Amino acid sequence: MGWFLSFLYSQLFVTLSKPSEDFTGQTIIITGSNTGLGLEAARHISELNASLVVLAVRNESKGAAAKQSILASTGRHSSSIEVWDLDLQSYESVKAFENRVNKLKRLDAVLENAGFMTKYFRVVGGFESTITTNVISTFLLALILLPKLKESATKFNTKPRLSIVASDLHFVAKFPEGKAENIFDVLNDEKSAIMSMERYAVSKLIVVFGVRELSTLMTQNAKSGFSEVIINCLTPGACRSGFDRESTGAKRFIFEIMQTAIARTTEAGSRTLVAGVAAGEESHGKYMADFQVAEYVYTFPNFLYPGNKTRLSQ
Ligand SMILES: NC(=O)c1ccc[n+]([C@@H]2O[C@H](COP(=O)([O-])OP(=O)(O)OC[C@H]3O[C@@H](n4cnc5c(N)ncnc54)[C@H](OP(=O)(O)O)[C@@H]3O)[C@@H](O)[C@H]2O)c1
Ligand SMILES: *[C@@H]1O[C@H](CO)[C@@H](O)[C@H](O)[C@H]1NC(C)=O
Ligand SMILES: *[C@@H]1O[C@H](CO)[C@@H](O)[C@H](O)[C@H]1NC(C)=O
Ligand SMILES: *[C@@H]1O[C@H](CO)[C@@H](O)[C@H](O)[C@H]1NC(C)=O
Repeated sequence: MGWFLSFLYSQLFVTLSKPSEDFTGQTIIITGSNTGLGLEAARHISELNASLVVLAVRNESKGAAAKQSILASTGRHSSSIEVWDLDLQSYESVKAFENRVNKLKRLDAVLENAGFMTKYFRVVGGFESTITTNVISTFLLALILLPKLKESATKFNTKPRLSIVASDLHFVAKFPEGKAENIFDVLNDEKSAIMSMERYAVSKLIVVFGVRELSTLMTQNAKSGFSEVIINCLTPGACRSGFDRESTGAKRFIFEIMQTAIARTTEAGSRTLVAGVAAGEESHGKYMADFQVAEYVYTFPNFLYPGNKTRLSQ
């Protein structure tokens, strides 16, 4: 229950300051940035002078509209934003991303924000579609982008970051499949699958575990003893976006009440995405909430001292 108190506390009492990191000279890719948290994070990062923001989206016209919306509010030059095609439910699309990325002069950060929840059981690319989108393609993309991030680290003597958007809901995953010998086989069993929130929570729990595991491998493989690239994940908290697109009736009603009572705006929530993608070494392999590594957020007795917070800096 500890996480739930922290979550409520965060939703009701924490004010997230407006991001002020300087992204001058940086190239940053943001997935699912045509709407919601991704769009608002892209707007901040563009406003904070990123040289190039790549909106990686599955619908070109929605991407073009997002680009216009950002340019209109920031007044930045049109060439500072590009819209690239990326559909996480197609491995071909994810792999095609690699060629484009390799043509970039540099890559400073990646914000893997695109995510999905559904009540329908469908197998896409060999896995249940929530898992395909939030886990398989998300990590496939990470592995495809890591070499470019590493190359930039060496060339420009910088510390590139890869940040994945997880969720507080990973705490509620029951995840009975986790006990199985082959977890992904069991997740593919339609008869035992509990969809919507449970499946979504499982996908985000695997993200948290995956980030932990990958960060360890990256550190072990680094000659310097420090990973060349920082990888972390984060929760934006509950935000009023179009994320729950399918629920109807009583479920929708409860959801709407929850949203009105406790949720943040997508702009406020997006500040946590900017903090994730700007975070330093201390976030490597970690899950962040409210700008901090969450293992240290509101754990007793710090819960009583909400003023005791240090923002992770780059
Ligand atoms: N809102 C919350 O309260 C909350 C809380 C915790 C975590 N999160 C996480 O925050 C992230 C952003 O969510 P949001 O609230 O901003 O929701 P949203 O408004 O629904 O945005 C989701 C984004 O992901 C994209 N996307 C979904 N499936 C995709 C696919 N197969 N390929 C490429 N892009 C895909 C969507 O594209 P389309 O517009 O084309 O569908 C959209 O751009 C997600 O990872 C979500 O799990 C949200
Ligand atoms: C971005 O650039 C503008 C114009 O040069 C400058 O006024 C502003 O302070 C910069 N912002 C940051 C965060 O560096
Ligand atoms: C892309 O979005 C536009 C505008 O919402 C919509 O009309 C169109 O059908 C979408 N295209 C695809 C391929 O989903
Ligand atoms: C603030 O947090 C740090 C890190 O958790 C802890 O070491 C320190 O004692 C805390 N200070 C106060 C006044 O609670």
